[in-house]
Amino acid sequence: MTLTDTAPAVMRPHAEDVYAHELALLAEQDDRPRPPGWRLSPQAVVTYLLGDGDRITPKYIGARRLMEVAVATLATDRSLLLIGVPGTAKTWVSEHLAAAVSGDSTLLVQGTAGTPEEAVRYGWNYAKLLAEGPSPAAVVPSPMMRAMETGAVARVEELTRIPSDVQDTLITILSEKTLPIPELGTEVQAAKGFTVIATANDRDRGVNELSSALRRRFNTVVLPVPGSVDEEVEIVSRRVASLGRALEIPAVEDTATEIRRVVTVFRELRDGVTTDGRTKVKTPSGTMSVAEAISVVTAGMTLAAHFGDGVLRPADVAAGIRGAVVRDPAADGPVWREYLETVARERDDWHDFYTAAREQG
Ligand SMILES: Nc1ncnc2c1ncn2[C@@H]1O[C@H](COP(=O)(O)OP(=O)(O)OP(=O)(O)O)[C@@H](O)[C@H]1O
Ligand SMILES: [Mg+2]
Repeated sequence: MTLTDTAPAVMRPHAEDVYAHELALLAEQDDRPRPPGWRLSPQAVVTYLLGDGDRITPKYIGARRLMEVAVATLATDRSLLLIGVPGTAKTWVSEHLAAAVSGDSTLLVQGTAGTPEEAVRYGWNYAKLLAEGPSPAAVVPSPMMRAMETGAVARVEELTRIPSDVQDTLITILSEKTLPIPELGTEVQAAKGFTVIATANDRDRGVNELSSALRRRFNTVVLPVPGSVDEEVEIVSRRVASLGRALEIPAVEDTATEIRRVVTVFRELRDGVTTDGRTKVKTPSGTMSVAEAISVVTAGMTLAAHFGDGVLRPADVAAGIRGAVVRDPAADGPVWREYLETVARERDDWHDFYTAAREQG
């Protein structure tokens, strides 16, 4: 919806809009069977996610098998639960899956401790309800209800943060594929193609444990942290390049060295040991996720573009890394200083970085 005639460009267009041309291309070439209600065949959805080395760009970088299992689940009557530590692309994959399967990634329920039942079932337009009494026109459908009506993918973000009584209303929807509206003596039956993709953070486990009844309605796919430095460098490089284009950051050269450095620091602090396996390091309280590495590099490129000489330098990433590592100054400050003194300082080609980081304090 636009409120003015001259709408400014949106900051973050939906996946189905950004990649509309890729989705159209795939749909055109796709001659495999499509499950009822799907825009593409399962095979084409996986190609959309992983890329084809040609005109379809990779969105997810990682094991093909994981994406095949995820997509195959959506073609059954079970729903998909993506879990993993922060920043492992759970939300990202869920958005792209919904875009590729239904052409709509916007049917989204954001899970919080305050998510009400109306977000999963329906609400009422009270003006209409008071004026006319309960009628279909007074019902305000939830994203879940709209997905059921149209046979589309509904997304539930941070499922485990949702209070358990609200989680329970999902059970009927997922097992019976219907949403009763007792006030009207009717129900909404899910059209073919309806399914749910939920995400949950490993670290939140225990906040609102999923009931076993609900868990049984889901196939779980665990998204791992990248297996190697090279893989993580590739993820960060690709995402930074596309974010840079989206944010229209002026071109920055020679980003490879600093991206590899950021990734190395992040992995070593996350794993608690240097990449050569020789030196143990303390781990900070923050998550040191891939998502965080992406934002450190993006911030560094912005510094280099606007305040530097257009080349990504150690000083451009040093402040960002420190900010990501030192979340809690009392606990993380010493962890970071120890890393600098025992690891960064010892590396011949890290001299500039060590000096820049030391200047940050
Ligand atoms: N394997 C990967 N392939 C492609 N992009 C990735 C990968 N891992 C992380 N990313 C990128 O990391 C960023 C963060 O991902 P996302 O927000 O989906 O994480 P999340 O798992 O939902 O985290 P949280 O638990 O904090 O919600 C995205 O920009 C995504 O592109
Ligand atoms: Mg997420």
